Amino acid sequence: MSDPRLYVALDLPSIDAARQMVETLGDSVMSYKIGLQLLPLGGAEFGRELATQGKNVFLDFKLHDIDATVEKATRSIAGIGADLLTVHARPDVMQAAARGRGDSRLKILGVTVLTSLDEQALIDIGYHHNAEELVLHRVRQAMEAGIDGVVSSPLEAAKIRAMVPDEFIVLTPGVRLAGHDQGDQKRVATPAAAIKAGASHIVVGRPITQANDPRAAAEKITANMRS
Ligand code: C5P
Repeated sequence: MSDPRLYVALDLPSIDAARQMVETLGDSVMSYKIGLQLLPLGGAEFGRELATQGKNVFLDFKLHDIDATVEKATRSIAGIGADLLTVHARPDVMQAAARGRGDSRLKILGVTVLTSLDEQALIDIGYHHNAEELVLHRVRQAMEAGIDGVVSSPLEAAKIRAMVPDEFIVLTPGVRLAGHDQGDQKRVATPAAAIKAGASHIVVGRPITQANDPRAAAEKITANMRS
């Protein structure tokens, strides 16, 4: 039994490996995220293939460029038939993406603060806000820009949910079952905790794609999400 709110991150070395993973997961997963590892290898075309099969497709481009380029890139991406696209949550970038998607079905999400960054990493980069302040500031800017939602850590989901309309998407990576390896993710929560905190969607990669039995792992995460 799949749940459309679970996006599996296809962070894999080739399109063949991704296609194989989609086949292995079968009807246990109906939503997929294609990101920077696969995009240079034909990931966008593969996204079109999945969309044609009726899957939900999230193209995680994390766009960040001058307005005109972001607007035109978003227009190109809207033609692929994907459901979700990420851009960095800077006001000018988000506004350009909102213009670029026009009246297509593509929804735009702003990446607030990467879930691999902790407070020390933010200081090292040169930010004067802590992660939570920075995330909430960017959520306000995302709403002002007229985009559809944000990507954030599950740890900030409750505060975000309290300040946005119900239909606003709050999508959280950094999701792990209790006792599982966090990898490079620093700000994590279980699927159930992420949903309870107000996440509308979750993204899970390695805990599913690197599992001995990916289908069983996806089913376990889906069950946890619904608990
Ligand atoms: O393997 P794992 O479950 O950690 O994968 C999480 C996915 O979510 C990766 O594809 C990563 O690029 C993406 N992501 C993230 N943090 C963000 C935005 C996207 O981890 N803030």
